[in-house]
Amino acid sequence: MKATYYGQSSLALETADEKTLLFDPFITPNPLAKTVDINNLKPDYILLSHGHGDHMADLIAIQKNTGAKVICIFEIADWLGKQGITNVHAMNIGGSFNFDFGRVKMVNAIHSSTLPDGSSGGNPAGFVIHANNGKKIYFSGDTALTYDMKLLEDENLDWAILPIGDNFTMGVDDAIKATGFINCKNVVGVHYDTFPVININQEEVSEKFIKAGINIQLPKIGETINL
Ligand code: NI
Ligand code: MN
Repeated sequence: MKATYYGQSSLALETADEKTLLFDPFITPNPLAKTVDINNLKPDYILLSHGHGDHMADLIAIQKNTGAKVICIFEIADWLGKQGITNVHAMNIGGSFNFDFGRVKMVNAIHSSTLPDGSSGGNPAGFVIHANNGKKIYFSGDTALTYDMKLLEDENLDWAILPIGDNFTMGVDDAIKATGFINCKNVVGVHYDTFPVININQEEVSEKFIKAGINIQLPKIGETINL
């Protein structure tokens, strides 16, 4: 499955049946993502982990451009409805649903979730995607290391997309611990370098993961990798 990184926690997965899943679009306010034109993004689905601006700044614009279906927690679905976005699939933690590209389970994340106007975004969430091509991907969203991740150890995850920037989320050491909890050795690191407090040294971080036996990918913004 192809994954294209758009900075912060935003990336698009292309499934074998040619559906594009865009996660957490925060592009136009990100000075590191100036090369990405949101008008070129054509997602079929937008999966939103929580209501913070660095995850949903471009959601409304991209949804209006494309008509993509938004998959998010109930409270954000309700809020999006009030903004005139009705092609929304509301879920809640622990629930799964079969979409045409595969099955999505909404899972726990330890973080906060406030919408741009200060409304509550309900609980923050992560997603486990069981794509029709057999690939299983965990997008944790913004989260602390949490023992709930242990619940995923029997999922046979192929890849985990984990925050590594520290301060607002897990840092590298906790992300490495998380790979043990979820029993997954392939990681795409996200949520770093966008703000000074989450700057990382990519070489040092990569070395730590490699020493721990983890295949770590830190794609450049705009780069497409194979998962
Ligand atoms: Ni956040
Ligand atoms: Mn964030």
